[in-house]
Amino acid sequence: MTQNKIAIIGSGGREHALARKFAQTLTWENVFTLPGNGGIPNSHSINVNDFDEVERFCIYNKIDMIFVGPEQPLAAGIVDYFKNKDIKVFGPDKQSAQLEASKIFAKQFMKKYGIATADFKIFNNTNDAKYFTAKKLGDLVIKFDGLAAGKGVFVCSAIDEANEALQELEKAYGENVNFIIEDKIKGDEISIIGFTDGKTIKLLQPSQDHKQLLDGDKGPNTGGMGAYSPVDGISNELMQKIRDKIVNPTLKGIQTEKMNYKGVIYFGIMVKNGEPYLLEYNVRFGDPETEVLLPALKNDLYEIANACISGNLNNVNFEFEEDYFCDVVLVSGGYPKVYSKNYVINGLENISENTLIFHAGTKNEAGVMLTNGGRVLNIVGRGKTLNKALDNAYKEVNKIYFKNMFFREDIGKRKNKHFKNF
Ligand code: GLY
Repeated sequence: MTQNKIAIIGSGGREHALARKFAQTLTWENVFTLPGNGGIPNSHSINVNDFDEVERFCIYNKIDMIFVGPEQPLAAGIVDYFKNKDIKVFGPDKQSAQLEASKIFAKQFMKKYGIATADFKIFNNTNDAKYFTAKKLGDLVIKFDGLAAGKGVFVCSAIDEANEALQELEKAYGENVNFIIEDKIKGDEISIIGFTDGKTIKLLQPSQDHKQLLDGDKGPNTGGMGAYSPVDGISNELMQKIRDKIVNPTLKGIQTEKMNYKGVIYFGIMVKNGEPYLLEYNVRFGDPETEVLLPALKNDLYEIANACISGNLNNVNFEFEEDYFCDVVLVSGGYPKVYSKNYVINGLENISENTLIFHAGTKNEAGVMLTNGGRVLNIVGRGKTLNKALDNAYKEVNKIYFKNMFFREDIGKRKNKHFKNF
């Protein structure tokens, strides 16, 4: 039997968690990460935006499947590029990736298929929006249409903030920029992430991300300061509403539009007074959610990915560990704005064997691990209770040090008041 070999595209903590999971069944020598980072074994620094180069690498190394971590290669059409070639690619095609790459496409899709979401209006220039925001009372969210690495969403609770957001959009993209304005729904946010083969959607356990930089959900938005899973308080009734009002109509839409979607689908959901609303789709795994979801998944990930590609996901039964997992992200001081790199990371050798560490912004120079990005390391604790998982993670966090290291101290401590309908 030929040995399965996989190439994971991406370079963050998500990709390290993916690589570890695949390596459990395929072994590390058959799990390649492109370009990877300082802590992911078998990382290869190639230009992943050049699909010819990716193809050459895969042919040379006899790779049979590519698993795409981030959204950019999907939106750029990597799945379409490899269509009718001998290498399988896990992920949605370019058109399906519009669910994440175009906020306008996504909101129109939600509206067409009756998916619970906030009311919205589409704009193609900032001047029209200025009149609209002046008349609009209450909180609103302004979202740039395209991919902006988390920098295209502005949550505004006052007219001044809305005007500032419009100015920022204008500065970045000019006056004739495509964007939407939607009502802000105030509640508790959860990430519901699943796999699809286009015929069925199978969900992993709910998780919760901590997007803001500072304790108490204050400060600027980041790529994620921590996550935990599963999330207590999500009743069977709420989960059923999420399926009925969001997941199932999405599947219906994917089928009706004949989308070629074989990959991960991420529902960013706001729960308000026990009712779920879809904020956004992502067409890939969340980061840092993946770092807590995959350690809990008992199944063979290669088999799941293969089942998605071959249209047999219905035959796979997901099984989960009973424990809680919690991820504390260590970032470079100054992130998400200006920060320095190349600081030595100390203490990695003292980490307990059963703690998972997923590298993000790191590089290995002659055996010395250095910081190489804003989000540097993910420290994942495990425990029978959420508190135990948190204790285990923070105990290990305290063993690590690099200059200007920063992290949130309240991961997993939120009171989710909106999960019930009071
Ligand atoms: N954790 C949010 C995201 O991956 O987009």
